[in-house]
Amino acid sequence: MCGIVGVVGNRNATDILMQGLEKLEYRGYDSAGIYVINKPESGRLIKSVGRIADLRAKIGIDVAGSTGIGHTRWATHGQATEANAHPHTSATGRFVLVHNGVIENYLQIKEEYLAGHTLKGETDTEIAVHLIGQFVEDGLSVLEAFKKALHIIEGSYAFALVDSQNPDTIYVAKNKSPLLIGLGDGYNMVCSDAMAMIRETNQFMEIHDKELVVLTKDNVEVTDYDGNAVEREAYTAELDLSDIGKGTYPYYMLKEIDEQPTVMRKLISTYADDKGNITVDPAIVKSVQEADRIYILAAGTSYNAGFASKSMIETLTDTPVELGIASEWGYNMPLLSKKPMFILLSQSGETADSRQVLVKANAMGIPSLTITNVPGSTLSREATYTMLLHAGPEIAVASTKAYTAQIAALAFLSKAVGEANGKKEALEFDLVHELSIVAQSIEASLSEREVIEKKVANLLATSRNAFYIGRGNDYYVAMEASLKLKEISYIQCEGFAAGELKHGTISLIEDGTPVLALISSSETVAAHTRGNIQEVAARGANVLTVVEEGLDKEGDDIVVNQVHPYLASISMVIPTQLIAYYASLQRGLDVDKPRNLAKAVTVE
Ligand code: F6R
Repeated sequence: MCGIVGVVGNRNATDILMQGLEKLEYRGYDSAGIYVINKPESGRLIKSVGRIADLRAKIGIDVAGSTGIGHTRWATHGQATEANAHPHTSATGRFVLVHNGVIENYLQIKEEYLAGHTLKGETDTEIAVHLIGQFVEDGLSVLEAFKKALHIIEGSYAFALVDSQNPDTIYVAKNKSPLLIGLGDGYNMVCSDAMAMIRETNQFMEIHDKELVVLTKDNVEVTDYDGNAVEREAYTAELDLSDIGKGTYPYYMLKEIDEQPTVMRKLISTYADDKGNITVDPAIVKSVQEADRIYILAAGTSYNAGFASKSMIETLTDTPVELGIASEWGYNMPLLSKKPMFILLSQSGETADSRQVLVKANAMGIPSLTITNVPGSTLSREATYTMLLHAGPEIAVASTKAYTAQIAALAFLSKAVGEANGKKEALEFDLVHELSIVAQSIEASLSEREVIEKKVANLLATSRNAFYIGRGNDYYVAMEASLKLKEISYIQCEGFAAGELKHGTISLIEDGTPVLALISSSETVAAHTRGNIQEVAARGANVLTVVEEGLDKEGDDIVVNQVHPYLASISMVIPTQLIAYYASLQRGLDVDKPRNLAKAVTVE
């Protein structure tokens, strides 16, 4: 994780770096720093523990220059202290470096090359900049020293390096961590994410793994690590400045929850034509058709979205679906079917665990599809095919609209494949119509937010533990609902198959334990879940029910409009997103930036 921003050749470097860091803060927020320089040897290095606002408070008008690099950190090596915050400097202070990623052989580098060096902190990054400085001391040019270091360093990294004796250049390189060049008029930028540069430019250039870029105010020179020139076209980003603002919302999470009906409609217009015909890329459809098994690989919320879509995909396509936790499969790939197809579900398209699986799949010649919200992201570039979520930037750390968009995108894919297979269920499923109903159902749930806010105050204000229970798809929604609640409210919460509770876990239920029950399946299933509710209520649980219209009974707490069963996971999750939001708010927590977390998890 961590976020990097750099600019060369713009007199407002400090402002550009600070604005960029504010936009990158979702990537890590335990400490931050900037280095700004105008002419040789005049650089200023300012660091701070805490949020970007804490760093801003330390920056006076004297911190100015035309070249600079900045960093917001999510600690991997060493605690969140000023000494460990980036940028880091070489032994003499001549070189200044920011880094995102993990250098795997940093201890070996320290022993082999840096005897006698005194380090200020405990980070792997400091070792990298000392290494470069040492090679220059040994007589290499800066570029040669950087290249030599890149040949030695193993692991994931995005680097931006400034030489205080020549502040007209930023040296950049990356491997497995995201980094992008932004092209300005008379200046150039480098950044982990286009969002942080969009105020300055919409012209970008990708950097691929193991490429080195020498960036000056009017030149971008891309080479491989052996110095061979690489031709790279610039592209125009579709992003809009208004997409990344919070508007009048107190938190991004609430804005993103509210955007979900729009996202559903956007997906309809993207993946269906005016007559309702599905327009998913035929090459993707064919590739899925040819598979004897679909493997969905993902992490966290995206993994939960895969589960919530499993039975819909199986019913519509007639192809079995298996789910894999990306961080497990990267190293423990199970026995696969004869003709597998891998689907990588990832909001960011940058998750290192998912990428690890994709690298293996590519090596094994397995066709792959990345379903992501970020065009041009690593997973999208490296998979055989890509489908975009078109959900607009998701900035709150807790994912909401990406989850629902993933299920909807998978519905379009499944319908297209099922139709191509001549499956009755797919031919009869009017997805465009049903998804419009889902959009309305979401709107109806959103209009009930005040009711939900009150229910949460009664139920979750002081509790340390809670359970979500459900059967079938409701169980999968319960998994996501509990992840959302624990990540932003810090309430320990488990999503449980309602019928499984009595096989052990029910011993945790005591007077006042909150149990949130989800009911959207058939009458029979609903009756069983209600039986499980009775069991926990009899043991003192404080129960809240979220029930689909038609299955509701007197006394239910939240009733969700009925939608097509394939899509019920989307409508059922909405109240649970609001429950998590209000629980976090009522506890006085930072809803958008929960502790210890970061948005794009680019380390394994
Ligand atoms: C939780 C959340 C995470 C992500 C996970 C995978 O709200 O956002 O669990 O879902 O880190 O990230 P992506 O989808 O970007 O691969």
